[in-house]
Amino acid sequence: MQFLGVELDKYEFRALLTAMVVMTIFIFSMLYVVGAQRSDVPQCVNFDKSYLTPRVDKIDDSTYEVYMVAQMWGFQPDEIRIPVGSTVDFYLTSKDVVHGFYIDGKDVNMMAEYGNVTKRTAKFTTAGVYKIFCHEYCGVGHQNMEARIIVGFPSNQQ
Ligand code: CUA
Repeated sequence: MQFLGVELDKYEFRALLTAMVVMTIFIFSMLYVVGAQRSDVPQCVNFDKSYLTPRVDKIDDSTYEVYMVAQMWGFQPDEIRIPVGSTVDFYLTSKDVVHGFYIDGKDVNMMAEYGNVTKRTAKFTTAGVYKIFCHEYCGVGHQNMEARIIVGFPSNQQ
C-alpha cells in the first residue's frame, strides 16, 4: 500500500500507525500534566559562589527562599522551620560530588552538582515534618545524608 508516496507493507503501516498514536497520546499526556496538573520541572540558574552560602531568606510571612548546599555527607541548612501555607523556592547546589535532593511527600526531586544551581518551588499546605534525602550514591556516608523541613511554625516564631 501507499503511504505519503512510499510503498509500505500493511504490517509496516500498522506499526507506523501504532507508533504515531502512542506518540500522540504521550505528547498530550505531557501537556496535560504541565497544564491541568500544574506540574513543573526544575529550572537551571546561573551559578555564582553566593549559592555556596547556605541560608533561609524570609521574603514575607508565607514566602521563603532556601539556599541549600549539599556536601559529603549532609545538607545545610539541615533544619528549616516554616509556617503552614508557605511557598518555598529551593536553590540547590553541591560543594563536592553529585548529590540527590528528594523531599518526602512532595514532588521535589533534584540533583545537586558543583558549579550548577537547580531551582524548584514547593508549597507546604499541610503541617508536618518533611524529610529530605540524598538519593544519589555519594560515598560511604550517603545513607546518613538527610535534612528536614518542619511545617507548622507561626511566622512570628522564626
Ligand atoms: Cu549525597 Cu548520597
